Amino acid sequence: LGDGKWSILQGDDGQVHATSTLETSQAADLAARVRGVVLAGVPVTLDVKPPLPRSAVRAGRLLEARRQRARSPGFTRAGARVDEGARIGLTPERIALELGELAKGRHVVDACCGAGGNAIGFARAGCSVTAIELDAERLAMAKHNASLYGVSDRIEWICDDARNALAGHRGVDSLWFLDVPWLSPSTDSEAGANHDAMGELLHALLALRGPGQRTWAKVPAAFDPSITEASRVSAWFGTGDGDARRVKFLILDFQA
Ligand SMILES: C[S@@+](CC[C@H](N)C(=O)[O-])C[C@H]1O[C@@H](n2cnc3c(N)ncnc32)[C@H](O)[C@@H]1O
Repeated sequence: LGDGKWSILQGDDGQVHATSTLETSQAADLAARVRGVVLAGVPVTLDVKPPLPRSAVRAGRLLEARRQRARSPGFTRAGARVDEGARIGLTPERIALELGELAKGRHVVDACCGAGGNAIGFARAGCSVTAIELDAERLAMAKHNASLYGVSDRIEWICDDARNALAGHRGVDSLWFLDVPWLSPSTDSEAGANHDAMGELLHALLALRGPGQRTWAKVPAAFDPSITEASRVSAWFGTGDGDARRVKFLILDFQA
């Protein structure tokens, strides 16, 4: 929500209501940032009293549009290979490293590794990793990127459909990491209207879990976790100016 002294109440409807008195420019900034945002299946709505003057709304949107240019970097090392499709789902390096720290000591099975953002983050944190990817070209990018970060020896690569390969990698000591493809670039991922295609693959992979299989699923901020059996949901913010106050994605934790 940003600056301001917020009083936060959970209503009878289960929704969270936050109230604050803000400067006009702060309120306009917030209005620009939460515009169209859906969090965990719930649209975020903002009610400003008195209504914001048009000029303030415009200034807020302009500032936000400028800020959006400075988003968390994906890979920071020069020479990293990422195609347009992989860029959309790529976990920014710093966040991938933080997730790696949380997984420390485990073997991680990254079911849809893409260009390797998470696989490399886990490996850099010392985890051994099995990285599965359907698309051979993407897998080649991930391999190249892993060598750039000097972690190739910690990653086993499998080019296959995770629906075939994942079941062979069950284990109570391993962590399954599921980052299935996000929506197409033409669709606003924050509108949250249609996650069916993604949900289908996610559910298929979740169904492959054996007893005690610890699993994390990375899903868009708008994804409604209540349609899964996740026992814990955490929100991950970006690190750049343009996404530091934005939930970039959720991690659903399926505890063993
Ligand atoms: C969101 S991206 C993963 C991004 C990755 N975590 C990163 O940070 O770089 C999803 C990847 O899943 C791959 N994919 C799609 N369907 C798959 C399947 N059935 N099995 C394995 N990989 C699949 C896509 O080719 C895509 O590269």
